[in-house]
Amino acid sequence: MRWIGMLAIALLAAAAVVAPDASQAQSRQWGEDYIPNLAVKTQHGKTVRFYDDLIKDKIVIISFIYTSCTDICPLTTARLSQLEERLGDLVGREIFFISMTVDPKRDTPERLQQFSSAFTTGPGWTFVTGDPEDIRAINYKFGERSEILSEHRNQIVLGNDATGEWQRDSAFSDLNRLVMTVRSLDPKWRDQVRPPAVDLGSDTGLAMSDQPGQALFKKICAPCHTIGVGDRVGPDLRDVTARRERSWLSAFIQNPAKLRALRDPAAIALAEKYPAVRMPVLGLGQQDAADLVSYLAAETTRLREDQAPMPVKHQKGGHAHHH
Ligand code: HEC
Repeated sequence: MRWIGMLAIALLAAAAVVAPDASQAQSRQWGEDYIPNLAVKTQHGKTVRFYDDLIKDKIVIISFIYTSCTDICPLTTARLSQLEERLGDLVGREIFFISMTVDPKRDTPERLQQFSSAFTTGPGWTFVTGDPEDIRAINYKFGERSEILSEHRNQIVLGNDATGEWQRDSAFSDLNRLVMTVRSLDPKWRDQVRPPAVDLGSDTGLAMSDQPGQALFKKICAPCHTIGVGDRVGPDLRDVTARRERSWLSAFIQNPAKLRALRDPAAIALAEKYPAVRMPVLGLGQQDAADLVSYLAAETTRLREDQAPMPVKHQKGGHAHHH
């Protein structure tokens, strides 16, 4: 299970990197001569020209996905949807997201549509499938060359077609840094004078947290789950520690696919309720799971206390809430 190591490396690398690393940038002149202008299909079933319609003159963030993936790749899309949120209304105007399937045979436009709506992606984000040969040719040009689906990398490609600047990055990088990296692909933005960003590293928080589960949650669970703010890609985890046994939670967090394979009724019911995306197997151990469960329990308690009514001396109706 190579990707377990890769996730660990991605997390460590993301924690270490604070400023864009110039040595990573491999400015290449990838223009229309390099990027194929093949006809492809979007998640809406529309046929478009890959270069002319999706790349030309745009700043793009390209990821490589397949919707049946059960390991960490849904996390890539989830992290990118957080990036989309942070880039705000620039997305669809100057900055565009492209998710290329690496499994064009199975990933039909309908399937991509279902997947994209699970992440509630906006109109500036195109999911691309098409003729398997053509899709392969395009992915190959971006360095996505794995023969085996599960080996495809969780790498993203960032580029500005207008300036011909292209670079690789990771969706697991610190989000604030990714925002800066993407924005600095725009020469106008780069040349502006602006005060230094103060909290460049705040998204990382790995070493600073006193709640051991908190940093982990923020990094790899929050892209898909909230605690008390509603369903995201997966269910709201508020009160989950009251709904479920700790041992079940620990087992599920460590390996949801295993519980599904064992036909665990709760895991099956969840999969039916959230059909578009599977909770990934994230390579977490028992201690990580225990920390996460403690954090979920603590947050649930904290939210309850925040919402408990203040003690009122002369409460009418007799429904005083202090015990
Ligand atoms: C890529 C999105 C994604 C990521 C990342 C993710 N989950 Fe999930 N999670 C889901 C989905 C979708 C479900 C619904 C069940 C399923 O599909 O297996 C789920 C279900 C759950 C459940 C069961 C909830 C219930 O109501 O019983 C728990 C607990 C959970 N996730 C915890 C976590 C924790 C902890 C992390 C981080 C270590 C995490 N998840 C990361 C998508 C995700």
